[in-house]
Amino acid sequence: MTRNKILVVDDEANQRQIYKLILEDDGHEVTTAQSGEQALRFASEAGFDLVLTDYKMTGMDGLTLLGELLKQDPSLIVIMMTAHGSVESVKEALRGGAFDYLEKPIDRDQLLKAVESALSRLRSIDDEIKGDSDEMERVKKMILKVAGSSSTVLIRGESGVGKELVARAIHRASPRVGQIFQAVNCAAINENLLESELFGHEKGSFTGAHTQKKGQFEIADRGTLFLDEIGDLNIAMQAKLLRTLQEKEVLRVGGSRPIKVDVRVIAATNRDLEAMVKDSRFREDLYYRLNIIPITIPPLRNRRDDIVNLIDYFIAKHSHNSQRHIKGLTASARNLIMNYSWPGNVRQLESAIERAMLLCEGDMIDVEDLPVEIRQEGTPAAAFNFKLPPEGISFEDLEHSLITQAMEQTNWNITRAAKLLGLSFRTLQYRLEKFGIKRPVKEP
Ligand SMILES: Nc1ncnc2c1ncn2[C@@H]1O[C@H](COP(=O)(O)OP(=O)(O)OP(=O)(O)O)[C@@H](O)[C@H]1O
Ligand SMILES: [Mg+2]
Repeated sequence: MTRNKILVVDDEANQRQIYKLILEDDGHEVTTAQSGEQALRFASEAGFDLVLTDYKMTGMDGLTLLGELLKQDPSLIVIMMTAHGSVESVKEALRGGAFDYLEKPIDRDQLLKAVESALSRLRSIDDEIKGDSDEMERVKKMILKVAGSSSTVLIRGESGVGKELVARAIHRASPRVGQIFQAVNCAAINENLLESELFGHEKGSFTGAHTQKKGQFEIADRGTLFLDEIGDLNIAMQAKLLRTLQEKEVLRVGGSRPIKVDVRVIAATNRDLEAMVKDSRFREDLYYRLNIIPITIPPLRNRRDDIVNLIDYFIAKHSHNSQRHIKGLTASARNLIMNYSWPGNVRQLESAIERAMLLCEGDMIDVEDLPVEIRQEGTPAAAFNFKLPPEGISFEDLEHSLITQAMEQTNWNITRAAKLLGLSFRTLQYRLEKFGIKRPVKEP
């Protein structure tokens, strides 16, 4: 088991000692704090995997501490320990963002079980979502924390960062796991049909409505509904969605009676919703209703530590498609990948790796197997360090020489030579003809 860093907060010295001994005995690294104030200081100085805090303490109480800790790091996992099961305080703590609670007196087994349950659920999210940069570790802890409740979650991030992957992970870590996960891309459905798609319709409610139809909210009843590209909803649909979220009921198109639904909504967007609210293109009230728990997935170029993990994962994932056993990447290919800007994020990385595995002729993916945009961005002209001599050069001779070298290096494979030169197949073919460059005929 991996060693985890746990912060124990209690104003009673002997309690602190007991918890510390039990947890250390189980292999964890434990720091203790005697007050909320001290805990806050420790937490800001060091990263903890988990905080275990007493609820009633002199000075700052557990609930205030929880709020302050979450201000520093909303993903922090906090387990609250409450005396004599005061139900209300427990509820309050969970609403305030605690992950779990323990009722005093707490025995050794209960304590270890609660801690192990939090940490093992975190590890199972690790299996689905690759990358252990600080940014992704925070995202994973957020997934674990929001999974327990039915609150609406808003996932933000550029295209291809893994928004749907995170939405599915939330569903799988939640009590709704045995129920359906339904995904709807709001941008992909015609505006006129979206209302019926989401909320259903009654027979004859519009031309073409030959039968009664359940909408996605009804289909997802008791499960999770993933509303992708939420920023693309028009104003009328925004109002209807808001009403559904507030009332927890849907009205089918042409229907007269609302239908109760129990759906957890996870929304996603790569748009700037705040700017849209400012321009009155997105309802402010819906924005606040959706944004109860925001999770932002940073672009891949801002968490390059994850790239190595992801490459290994994608090579393993796609190895069944490949004829040969791909061991990894050459140093220069890896270098290009590490320095590329990845505008299409993880999805683009995955397809680059998948493609390279198909093109690769050895057991290591090399520069020539990578898509042209990656090769070009990674090797700007300046990198060649070619200095034009004062007496000038013959551009045609240089071109001729580069093309010949590329053809020789690739054993006269036009496709691969074109890739080396950053040219299209047809451009290279044209130039080969223009210069009359031909493969030398071997002497018999
Ligand atoms: N951290 C990750 N670990 C493993 N696979 C990942 C990770 N992030 C993304 N992927 C994979 O990358 C692809 C794109 O992810 P996903 O569809 O979740 O992105 P998205 O943010 O929803 O994109 P879009 O905005 O284009 O809809 C998927 O195949 C997904 O499984
Ligand atoms: Mg998506």
